[in-house]
Amino acid sequence: MFKLETKRLVLRDLEIDDLQLFYDMSIEEKITNYQRWFLGKNGYEQWVEDSINHNKRKPRFAYDLAITLKNSGKAIGWIGWGTDDLEKCEYDFGYSLLPEYWSKGIMTEALSCGVDYMFNKLNASTVSGECVDDNIGSARVMEKAGLLLIKEWDEINLETEKIRKRRKYSKSSDFYVT
Ligand SMILES: CC(C)(COP(=O)(O)OP(=O)(O)OC[C@H]1O[C@@H](n2cnc3c(N)ncnc32)[C@H](O)[C@@H]1OP(=O)(O)O)[C@@H](O)C(=O)NCCC(=O)NCCS
Repeated sequence: MFKLETKRLVLRDLEIDDLQLFYDMSIEEKITNYQRWFLGKNGYEQWVEDSINHNKRKPRFAYDLAITLKNSGKAIGWIGWGTDDLEKCEYDFGYSLLPEYWSKGIMTEALSCGVDYMFNKLNASTVSGECVDDNIGSARVMEKAGLLLIKEWDEINLETEKIRKRRKYSKSSDFYVT
């Protein structure tokens, strides 16, 4: 099984037992405010199954991983990255963490590890993520992991019909220093 270790965390391939974690995240408004895809009918269940299968593809395009605590093995969140073109190697990522673990530097630790992996092992040309402008925590995580704000645009929320700004953060391998 694919695994990466940081000081406090093990990032490992998703397993079917992680459905409980995704259920816990799907009923948490603080998360679904920003991760709408957890919500749809069977949204997260189908997504977890598909991601487990996608992780097994060879060559591998995607890494959808559970964020677990090294000392207890408890699954507390998800981080995923992938590309749709292994020649261009432009990687995107996403993440979510159970709120009781917020603001302890956990996602910064997980994303920094992911960014290193994408540049060092997957030969990424760029690594990018997006968030809406009021998701200050997510923007901070990307900044702390060394990404820069490269683009900002208006997006219409189809449910509320409100316009909000979306931001893209990115880093190019040209500026990656090990
Ligand atoms: C975004 C998220 C992953 C952050 O995880 P985390 O482990 O709490 O992040 P970290 O602790 O590594 O860093 C968060 C930073 O944002 C800051 N922050 C968080 N909320 C903030 C706010 N409302 N105002 C100002 N700063 C804020 C924290 O203080 C911290 O910065 P610091 O270390 O400089 O003090 C988590 O909040 C989450 O799961 N949110 C819901 C899902 C989501 O938004 N996913 C991303 C979609 S783009």
